[in-house]
Amino acid sequence: MDMLTITNLKKRFGDKEVLCGLNLSVPSNSVFGFVGRNGAGKTTTMKAVLGLLKPDDGQIFVSGKKVVWGQTETNQYIGYLPDVPEFYSYMTPFEYLIFCGEICGMKKSDIKERSTKLLSLVGLENENHRIKGFSRGMKQRLGIAQALLSRPKLLICDEPTSALDPEGRKEILDILVAVKEETTVLFSTHILSDVEHICEEVAFLNEGKIVMQGKVSEIRNIRSSKEFTLEVINREDTKKLMDNFKDIRHTEENTLVFSGEENKVFDVLRYVYENKISIQKMERIEPSLEDVFLEVMKK
Ligand SMILES: Nc1ncnc2c1ncn2[C@@H]1O[C@H](COP(=O)(O)OP(=O)(O)OP(=O)(O)O)[C@@H](O)[C@H]1O
Ligand SMILES: [Mg+2]
Repeated sequence: MDMLTITNLKKRFGDKEVLCGLNLSVPSNSVFGFVGRNGAGKTTTMKAVLGLLKPDDGQIFVSGKKVVWGQTETNQYIGYLPDVPEFYSYMTPFEYLIFCGEICGMKKSDIKERSTKLLSLVGLENENHRIKGFSRGMKQRLGIAQALLSRPKLLICDEPTSALDPEGRKEILDILVAVKEETTVLFSTHILSDVEHICEEVAFLNEGKIVMQGKVSEIRNIRSSKEFTLEVINREDTKKLMDNFKDIRHTEENTLVFSGEENKVFDVLRYVYENKISIQKMERIEPSLEDVFLEVMKK
């Protein structure tokens, strides 16, 4: 079953049509990457899912229930980490989670137990000082703990890793993977390597529509150009190959790159064999998600 379904979502600000018929389905218990350039409409979409923004058209269902603008009923299923989370900076992380739990109407004993568990999950169990002195990464981790407090079925994170260094990003990504057993994770980003690391599925948003959605492994392989690297032992052989094959490129030291269908590969291999060229290795270059994204955005 899909945890989130969006059909034909439209939103216009003034004369600017930001979302023009967006369709998206997020499978339950997946980690889902929602990718788009700055200004593509990621935050706008998320706000519509939270019922915070009135769509001009379209329907949104969370866990099978219809989202209605201005009503918070479906938000009982959702945990939300905004792009810039705000906290009461004079509180400690534990105090903050207790406070949030009370606002949500959770039972006192449950709040305590859940807060302790979540602070440990996000690596803040020993941080007993005020949030004021927290780094960005620590604030993002606390934001995830807060979003998970009421056991949401759907965790929505708006660019949780964008402002973080590689170590901070990895910490967040590890947490998102760890929680997918108990919740579906939808996160927006423009860092495609993050998506490659942790997402099963991805959707690309461009010009107000989803231009591609599917499994990361399948999307990576639909890229049309097939490239190979060929590393030779002797430098002078690179020249021979380049003289013989016009579209072979020299990239570094003894390495060449060429693209083509299988026949081209056989031609190169035949040349290597007939000229007794010693090779170190030859391999197919796996297209990255970034390559696919750039190709799709060009269309
Ligand atoms: N309340 C608003 N009033 C007018 N225009 C808005 C409003 N909210 C968003 N927009 C416009 O809608 C477009 C999409 O904005 P949105 O914040 O959804 O993009 P985004 O994909 O989240 O971008 P980013 O990666 O920079 O966070 C932008 O051009 C933005 O200026
Ligand atoms: Mg945004």
